[in-house]
Amino acid sequence: MAITVEGNLFYVNTEASSLILENRDGDLLLKHFGRKINSYHFSNTIHEKDHAFSGNPSPEVRTYSYDTQRQVIGTYGFGDFRKPSVRVQHGSNELTFFKLVDYHIVKELIEAEGLPNPHSDEQAQTLVLVLEDQVAQLRLTLYYTAFETSATITSFAKLTNLSDEPVVVHRLLSSMLDVPAKQYDVITLQGAYAREKAVRRQNLHQGVFSISSSRGASGHGQTPALLLADRKASEDFGDVIALQLLYSGNFQAFAQENQLQEVRLGIGINDDNFAWQLAPSESFVTPVAMLSYSHKGLTGLTSESQAFIKNHIIPKRFADEERPILINNWEATYFDFNKDKLLSLADEASALGMELFVLDDGWFGNRFDDNRALGDWTVNESKLGGPLSELIADVHAKGLKFGLWVEPEMISEASDLYRAHPDWAIQAPCRGHTYSRNQLMLNLANPDVVAYLKETFDGILAQNAIDYIKWDYNRNMTNLGNGATYLETQMQSHAYMLGFYDLVSYLTETYPDVLFESCSGGGGRNDLGVMRYFPQVWASDNTDAIARLPIQYGSTFLYPTISMGSHVSAVPNHQMGRITPLETRGHVAMMGNFGYELDLTQMTETEKAIVAEQVAHYKRIRPLVQFGQQYRLLNPEENTNEAAVQFVYEDQSVVTYVRIQSTIETIETTLKLKGLDEDAIYRLDGTEKCYSGAELMYAGLTLDMPNGDYLSKQFYFVKDVKD
Ligand code: GLA
Repeated sequence: MAITVEGNLFYVNTEASSLILENRDGDLLLKHFGRKINSYHFSNTIHEKDHAFSGNPSPEVRTYSYDTQRQVIGTYGFGDFRKPSVRVQHGSNELTFFKLVDYHIVKELIEAEGLPNPHSDEQAQTLVLVLEDQVAQLRLTLYYTAFETSATITSFAKLTNLSDEPVVVHRLLSSMLDVPAKQYDVITLQGAYAREKAVRRQNLHQGVFSISSSRGASGHGQTPALLLADRKASEDFGDVIALQLLYSGNFQAFAQENQLQEVRLGIGINDDNFAWQLAPSESFVTPVAMLSYSHKGLTGLTSESQAFIKNHIIPKRFADEERPILINNWEATYFDFNKDKLLSLADEASALGMELFVLDDGWFGNRFDDNRALGDWTVNESKLGGPLSELIADVHAKGLKFGLWVEPEMISEASDLYRAHPDWAIQAPCRGHTYSRNQLMLNLANPDVVAYLKETFDGILAQNAIDYIKWDYNRNMTNLGNGATYLETQMQSHAYMLGFYDLVSYLTETYPDVLFESCSGGGGRNDLGVMRYFPQVWASDNTDAIARLPIQYGSTFLYPTISMGSHVSAVPNHQMGRITPLETRGHVAMMGNFGYELDLTQMTETEKAIVAEQVAHYKRIRPLVQFGQQYRLLNPEENTNEAAVQFVYEDQSVVTYVRIQSTIETIETTLKLKGLDEDAIYRLDGTEKCYSGAELMYAGLTLDMPNGDYLSKQFYFVKDVKD
């Protein structure tokens, strides 16, 4: 049983983790979150004593204070001086004090309405804890869902106004956990445009470490995820907790070490510039948080998170489906193309064994550059040499699937849509616009806009045999102010997200066979909110093989490899100006969902032969990369000159190694492989060389690299089956 109640204890158990809560006279106290415990008897109870300057709720008991108890709700005003999880303006103040009044165990997942939710499974169970504040007349409901075959639970909160006056929610975290004093590190994924998801590990000290976004999107610079690792935790050993959010808008996550060195973790909507009015009997529901645990270090946590996301978050239709090798025309042509150019690219792609042709930006309206026409989603037939359906038929006839770029959430001032509906852009009265890539954002908080977008893209998808959509989002949100009141304005960024999820759930459910890939200038919205609807994300606009190493390391740190788009592009690289060998570009891109983004018609015959070989090779290793167990052998952030990643799937394993700068008078690197069968013999594909699993893991594989910069090697091992 995943969820049980024993006396005053609640157990939320998965196969490998437990969350244990105590009901102490209506107060919810967190006794444990971590490795599984089936039977708990308060062995770790905090020795209760009179801590100076902590508040006590009762004059008789000077040893009980909300400032020292571990909790899952942080209320403001009654002696817990840490960061609150809830802040509601009601009556004349913001004091809240929630006591447990009821609970239920439900034998299924309960969904957060209108927001991205995990997929349920037969074993999912939800603990529903109902708390009330009689004075403020508020109900706070906490939901904890256990998925038995994992070490992950999900959780969210709902606040209901029981009074007959409106109240204003200023802060409501999706999840909060107080964990015991210890030396910890926090790990987050940070960066910027074209260098997304750098893995940052730092010591936690007294104070608050926080990450957040106020961009209206998760952003390139941060990811809605925060890991708390035992300071001794390494790649293979030690306790690690991860909090992640299924949300793509403004978020916050923090770790607060207080004066007693206890640590509070929280994740949820960013409360900067946030307020949500609740009329009597209305509720506010938070996004869903994912709480994962591993005692097997960072690799263990990665495996747990990757598996949970693949099994419970990515659309089921695509979770176990091999992804096509694509050619995208963006870096090949930018806006400068016509039908002949596109078809000659498709011809080459088809001859080289690729599987999907993607037509990027520039196919609609007057879109000859990025200054205009967003919103005018009518096919530019003179540029495409006829209707889109004809181009698609021609591409299909070459044995390729067809994909199309769209950016539905945007509007250009120079567009028919803006001329017809200038009020549909997000804007504040009398303030003009703030431009970014010379475009504005549509106000998805307005149901008319969402209805229009549903109809427009329904039309395009219904009338054309489109197999794949690249859904772009190329600016962030500013000038919020379409609402008629201060509160409507404050509510706009979250209302936008609800409109966005309404739109994308409608389109992805109406066209379940279309593979959607999310993009936001690369990884500007690479989060679990997006991944719930779009099974792939274009990890970065930076296609340089060397710059991609840390980006791909971070992009798969929590998210499954099958979610990560990675392409080979031309040299000198368009973002970095670097020249790297085609082999290295291929090896690096093959660590994700493989594709090409260059002008195949400009390649020499020798280059084309290499590409044809890469494509054929990727088709063989694709199940390993997309469904295999991933091991990081050399991390680019720790070893700045080398990176190595291994995948193991069934009886096969593939290892990719990249060395950045040439070295001299050094001993060659030996890679100790992981996850192999000790007693099995593995043959190195394409050779007669055979090694035991034990020797590859415990003695290692020594590399033999020629001189030169930016070189790579890939090793493909297959278990030798004796007749
Ligand atoms: C963004 C994307 C690119 C490309 C362009 C098209 O920058 O990240 O891959 O699609 O838009 O305008």
